[in-house]
Amino acid sequence: MDTPTVDSTRIAQAVEVLKRGGLVAVPTETVYGLAADATNEAAVRAIFAAKGRPADHPVIVHVADANAIDDWARDVPESARALAAAFWPGPLTLVLKRSPRALDVVTGGQDTVGLRCPAHPWAQALLQAFGGALAAPSANRFGRLSPTTAEHVRADLGEKPAGAVDLILDGGACPVGIESTIVDLSGAQPTLLRPGSVTRMALEQALGTPVADPDADAPRASGTLERHYAPRTPLEVVPVDRLGSRLAALFHLRVAVLAPAAVLQALRAQPAVEIPASEDPVAYARELYADLHQLDQAAADRIVVSAPPTGGEWAAVHDRLRRAQAGSRARH
Ligand code: TXA
Ligand code: MG
Repeated sequence: MDTPTVDSTRIAQAVEVLKRGGLVAVPTETVYGLAADATNEAAVRAIFAAKGRPADHPVIVHVADANAIDDWARDVPESARALAAAFWPGPLTLVLKRSPRALDVVTGGQDTVGLRCPAHPWAQALLQAFGGALAAPSANRFGRLSPTTAEHVRADLGEKPAGAVDLILDGGACPVGIESTIVDLSGAQPTLLRPGSVTRMALEQALGTPVADPDADAPRASGTLERHYAPRTPLEVVPVDRLGSRLAALFHLRVAVLAPAAVLQALRAQPAVEIPASEDPVAYARELYADLHQLDQAAADRIVVSAPPTGGEWAAVHDRLRRAQAGSRARH
């Protein structure tokens, strides 16, 4: 997988756009973000308008390095320093008590702020050249699949004058492919709000303490709504040992299947569309949204996904598949 070398002319254009309150789609190692100057209220509002996202949802503030933590957060616990030291720059978002710099439009009016220092060379170059922090949710319309290529952003949000984004930076396909792990450190104990490629076990090792699951009073994370990450085509996840019989029952439909190559080969009847799934959790996650986009564009009546293995490294993939299934059901 290639990441094109950073184009400093494009970065300079993007900085101009951000300085005048515009929106830039920027590749990060997880997914593409829709970025605006985090200190410009009107610019952050424009993100919500472009996405069609409810205004009370918080957005993540992206920073160039861990020194920015104290600009954006207060009463920062040692656990936050430990996780930043272990995983930044990288696919981890820390939820901390907000400082006065964090605007209500960024925090969704909550007392906390989500901070992430991305590792992707294009995101890093943009943050360095801009010299400030960037508010950025994933660069997709609300409820749709997250984009992992510039083409996904072009197809979903579009570039001005016809589309919603002032400038789309093309930094290639995102190497992680699913959204960052979100851990809340604003309460009595660390809480995992969204699983990601930084696993619970990795967090617990770095912290030396257990990481809890959110309870009912946990802060809202729109990524935790069940109706998220939805393809348009109805999607179901089927245990691998029942895949053959399920496909036989759906024989009258045009079905698009995501399953390991060996499983696809062993099927009696060939599905209309098939994509071989990786058996490695890192590669599976990297390809997941591109695969789902492709399956969704296959004009199938149904998407059937062979359930991946269980285990901690697969937790984030299971989480996204479960939401894709719930979201596609809610749509139909
Ligand atoms: O990997 C990622 O996190 C990507 C890239 C662009 O950085 N961003 C991303 O943003 O996935 P978004 O907005 O699509 O999802 C971020 C999640 C949302 O569910 C939001 O509610 C949650 O983070 N969030 C942000 N600030 C929060 C806060 N203060 N408390 C709780 N959740 C927060
Ligand atoms: Mg999102």
